[in-house]
Amino acid sequence: MTLQDIEEVYQIELLSFKTPWAKESFLKEITTNKNVSNFIIAQYDNKIIGYAGIYLVGNEGHITNIAVHPAYRKIKIGELLFINILRIAVDLKVQTITLEVRESNQIAINLYSKYHFFPVSVRKKYYIDNGENAIIMKLSITNLNKFCDELTNNLNLIKEKFRCPIKIDDIHF
Ligand SMILES: CC(C)(COP(=O)(O)OP(=O)(O)OC[C@H]1O[C@@H](n2cnc3c(N)ncnc32)[C@H](O)[C@@H]1OP(=O)(O)O)[C@@H](O)C(=O)NCCC(=O)NCCS
Repeated sequence: MTLQDIEEVYQIELLSFKTPWAKESFLKEITTNKNVSNFIIAQYDNKIIGYAGIYLVGNEGHITNIAVHPAYRKIKIGELLFINILRIAVDLKVQTITLEVRESNQIAINLYSKYHFFPVSVRKKYYIDNGENAIIMKLSITNLNKFCDELTNNLNLIKEKFRCPIKIDDIHF
């Protein structure tokens, strides 16, 4: 993700979250925080249709965002982004990855559970707009090779099904 991408990413952020990040937060991630922050985008037809971010510090990762433009949901873009962001972590031998998710966000919880994230704790009334709890989910990678194979297999399955040429930057496959 580059400076030029921020506006498009921000528009998806506004469409996707009740308490969206400010534009300046994205700017900070790719400038001041660029040593720890990794952001990828998905593009179709030269338009950004999704993005995901992860902090990587030592052997720990924390997923900061993932969103797909509403017009492009449920066609595996979110999963492609998720696989790619996990692969960046795995390439750096990260062993644990955490994230937080609204307890009502079953769609995201399903996606995370598919990749073996499991709930470890609850942050009560974490979200300021409605006082909703956040579920903290964690992935512990015990068998790196097996997990890599799973990511690659799932990526290939999605690619086989896909007819649209979606481009995801920072692909490490
Ligand atoms: C969460 C999000 C990124 C998923 O992206 P997507 O491209 O629509 O999802 P995909 O088509 O790649 O689906 C991947 C998995 O997500 C889950 N999922 C996606 N849509 C779902 C739905 N409508 N109902 C239930 N589960 C769903 C499933 O586990 C699915 O895997 P499956 O197809 O094998 O069942 C997208 O819904 C989004 O941008 N939501 C708003 C932002 C958000 O909530 N981000 C998460 C913050 S914690």
